[in-house]
Amino acid sequence: MAIMLEGLKGNKKLVMLTAYDYQVARLLDEEGLDMILVGDSLGMVVLGYESTKQVSIEEMLHHTRAVARGAKRTPIIGDMPIGSYATPKLALRNARKFIEAGAAGVKVEGCVADTIEELVSNDIPVMGHLGLLPQTAEKYKLVGKGSDAERIFEDAQTIDKGGVFSIVLECIPDQLAKKITENVRSITIGIGAGKYCDGQVLVVNDMLGMDERFNPKYVKKYADLSKVIKKAVSDFKEEVKSGKFPDDAHSFHS
Ligand code: KIV
Repeated sequence: MAIMLEGLKGNKKLVMLTAYDYQVARLLDEEGLDMILVGDSLGMVVLGYESTKQVSIEEMLHHTRAVARGAKRTPIIGDMPIGSYATPKLALRNARKFIEAGAAGVKVEGCVADTIEELVSNDIPVMGHLGLLPQTAEKYKLVGKGSDAERIFEDAQTIDKGGVFSIVLECIPDQLAKKITENVRSITIGIGAGKYCDGQVLVVNDMLGMDERFNPKYVKKYADLSKVIKKAVSDFKEEVKSGKFPDDAHSFHS
């Protein structure tokens, strides 16, 4: 599914969520999102790694294929994991694998202008990612205060000129996100970057409340699935132990 976002900047708020598997992708697809990101947050929320730094390209491609089987209408963005775009040539080789896996475009972190130009000039749509960069950050925290703000603003100008169609802005002050949004051609998608971005993204497991221990300020939980799942599991356990399940209605009779 091609990315068709021309003319939307400033006219319509865009909505993106992450997905990592077929079933969730199918549900998101039915709700009509603008994009689905197969984020390398996969590492933490699905694979149980400490950070995104441990995620491999094979793992990302495996989950991109699963999401592509579920999302028939929504453009999918494949997040290139650390190391997979270390040089422009390597980036192009690996980005093509994401496209083969069903992605419409790829996302890369940081001001990697040469890489972005190589991908864009080879017809690969690229989403940038500035602000907090999980692949290289020591700590997950707000960035873009003081002199850092000017650098991030300049990086946004650079990758915008390099041809990205969109930029994720992660964990930066809302006024910096506003200034960037007003001064780039591409579509800004915020996560912890306030209300002035052209669109918003959240990690789907976070907004569904899958982990009761994870409560950063920028995440709004639209559901409390950890509670729902625990209750269902506990009810199942009780019913099996007491002999209530399976009852006649859930058994085959000759
Ligand atoms: O990996 C991811 O899920 C992301 C989002 C936080 C934008 O990069």
